[in-house]
Order: sequence, then structure tokens, then C-alpha cells
Amino acid sequence: MKTALITGITGQDGSWLAELLLAKGYAVHGTVRRTSTPGDSRLLPFLDRLVLHPADMTDAGSLRDAVAACRPDEVYNLAAQSHVGTSWAMPAYTTDVAGLGAVRLLDAVRAEAPSARVYQASTCEIFGTSPAPQSEATPLAPRNPYAVGKAAAYHAVRNHRDAYGLFAVNGILFNHESERRGERFVTRKITRAVGRIVAGTQGSLALGNLEARRDWGHAEDYVEAMWRMLQLDAPEDLVVATGVSHSVQDFVEAAFAAAGLDWREHVTTDPALVRPIDIPELVGDASRARERIGWSPRVGFDALVRRMVDHDVRLARLERDCGEAPVPRR
Ligand code: NAP
Ligand code: GDD
Repeated sequence: MKTALITGITGQDGSWLAELLLAKGYAVHGTVRRTSTPGDSRLLPFLDRLVLHPADMTDAGSLRDAVAACRPDEVYNLAAQSHVGTSWAMPAYTTDVAGLGAVRLLDAVRAEAPSARVYQASTCEIFGTSPAPQSEATPLAPRNPYAVGKAAAYHAVRNHRDAYGLFAVNGILFNHESERRGERFVTRKITRAVGRIVAGTQGSLALGNLEARRDWGHAEDYVEAMWRMLQLDAPEDLVVATGVSHSVQDFVEAAFAAAGLDWREHVTTDPALVRPIDIPELVGDASRARERIGWSPRVGFDALVRRMVDHDVRLARLERDCGEAPVPRR
């Protein structure tokens, strides 16, 4: 039985990845903070099958203890303050967690489990304003504090690989969403609002920049790519994306239409929600991932929107009728 350690196991991707690795027969360990809520709906259905260790990406000793406690075969570094908008309000903390946090974890692996394989949750945000479509050959041009931290982590992974022979890879993932997405990311903010408008518990939805274009896939597909990258014969960095971009307004229109609503009757724009710099378009060329790990997305844009809207309409009705959302069953 292989052992995996997931930092950020309580997040969207952590929950999908933990579920995938459990199904593959791994012993799954994860890190949690004092303020984490592992008992919420994302992990609850399989919480009793996980081993959790206290650790914070800002604390090197706790990361080293977590690695030493489980001696993993595979380490997935998913922990980050991952909200780009918030990174403008908390630039030092975000850069520390996303950037130096990865360095601390790489050092912990090198000291305690040097033969472990490491997956780093990199992001298309490191390409910033470099022209689309972005691929492994695109120059890095990070344009917000989150992306600056992730760019530092990207280089640290490559240095540990080349200097110390660590099997470490950057998965350069484009946006991926799901019914487990955090509620402050735009897709889930939209589908939660659609659900509540249908249930009669919300009237309108305020958004920022509707023109930004993103490449949206489903998170369940993307954690499969993470795992496949650690099964490569030799480590390399790969872009993972659908190759299709839509604007935020496209997502809004599709989500409201999926519930039989006209978005123009409910959506307003608020300049306070527009970021100091917003990347106009991120869309990936994942042809190398297709060739190297045989990966391609199974869930397209329309199915993604439909799945999230259906889930959030049901959830909003349950919240209205029960006072709170009941614990989901598998
Ligand atoms: P998420 O839902 O925001 O989850 C973030 C996770 O990081 C949570 O488990 C959180 O734990 C943990 N965390 C935050 N600060 C921490 C700290 N100081 N120490 C330890 N843990 C900390 O993010 P996600 O969407 O699952 O994304 C997973 C990773 O992929 C992130 O690194 C993100 O930047 C990256 N990424 C995401 C996407 C995407 O579209 N989803 C695309 C490219 C890259 P708590 O529960 O304690 O808060
Ligand atoms: N969150 C949010 N809230 N975004 C809004 C809003 C709003 O009210 N209105 C418009 N947007 C726009 C943002 O300005 C951005 O252009 C786009 O919607 C997507 O925003 P998010 O859903 O917050 O995601 P993100 O693209 O900034 O970042 C996500 O994807 C990255 C990969 O591209 C995060 O998951 C990052 O961690 C990840 O690296």
C-alpha cells in the first residue's frame, strides 16, 4: 500500500484527490490547521479513513513533523491562500504561504523522505499577462501577490529537482471548479446565487469584471492529472487545461439559463469587486499533458455549469426548508 500526504486536504482539490487516492488503495494522510474544518461536507463522507496531522505552511517544523510521521511515497502540495482577490489585501501572507511554504515543504521532504515524489499545485496565474494560449513554453509574468508566490514555488521545485535529484513536478493547472468549490470563487458565487434566487432566499448578485476569460474544467478531472504526473518515469512540468475559454459573463448567462432565469434581471456590477490588475485571458494548451500522461478533460463547460447549478439549487432548497444544509451522503 502506498502512502500519500496531501497539504490542503480540506480544500476543493484536496477532497477530490483524497477520494481518488482512497479508491486506488492509498493510505491517505493530510495536514490541517487549528482553524481548519475537516468535519465539513467536503471530507466528511470519508473522514474516518484519513490520518490528519497538524501543520501550517508558515511553520517549517510542523511540516517536517508531518512528513516524518507518515514517510510518504507521494506528497501533494495543495495548500495555499488561493484566492487571487484576497491576495491583494494580504500580499505578504499569501506570498509566504504559496511561495516560502513550498520551499519549507520541499526541504522537509528532502530531510525526512528524500525518495518521495512531490506534486506542486502550480497555476496558470504564473503566466499572468503573457499572451494566450499559454503552454509550458510561455514566459512567466505574474501580476498579483498570489501569482508571485506561486512563481517562486515553481522555480523552487525546478531547483530541488535539478540540484538534489528530487522527483518534483509543477502541475500548471488552469481554473477548475466543482460543487465543492469555495463560495468566494466566481463560478460557485454565481451558482450559489442562482440556487438561492430559485429558492427565493436571495434577490440579486453583485460581481466585478464580467469580461475576464478563463479556461474552466471540473476539479475531479484535474486531480486525476495530478496523480498521473507522479506516475511518470521522469519528472516534468505540465500544463493541464481544457483549451477553451469563456468570459465570466458567459458563465453567468449559462448558469442563470440552466435554472430558467434571465441573468439581466438579477446581476449588478460593483467596482469594489474589480481587482487592481485582472488578467484578461487565461486559456491553456495542454497538448503535452495529452501526450505524456494521456490526460484530457471529460467534463466540458456546459456539463460543468449544469452540475454546479443543479447541486446548488438542491442545496438552497434544503437550506431554506431545513434551516441548514444536511450532511451530504456519498
Ligand atoms: P482551496 O479550496 O482554497 O484550498 C486551499 C487549502 O489550503 C485548504 O485546505 C486550506 O486549509 C489550505 N491552507 C490555506 N492556508 C494554509 C496554511 N497557511 N497552511 C496550511 N494549509 C493552508 O484551493 P483549491 O481550489 O483546492 O486549490 C488547491 C491548490 O491548487 C491551491 O494551492 C491553489 O492555489 C492551486 N490551484 C487551484 C486552481 C483552481 O482552479 N482550483 C488552479 C490552479 C492552482 P484550511 O481549511 O485550513 O483553510
Ligand atoms: N472571485 C470573484 N468574485 N471573481 C470575480 C467576481 C467576483 O465577484 N467578479 C468577477 N470576477 C472575475 C475575477 O476578476 C477573475 O477574472 C475571474 O472572475 C475568476 O475569478 P476567481 O473565480 O476568483 O478565480 P481566479 O481565476 O482569480 O483564480 C482561481 O484560478 C486560478 C487559476 O487560474 C483560483 O482557484 C486560483 O487559486 C488559481 O490559481
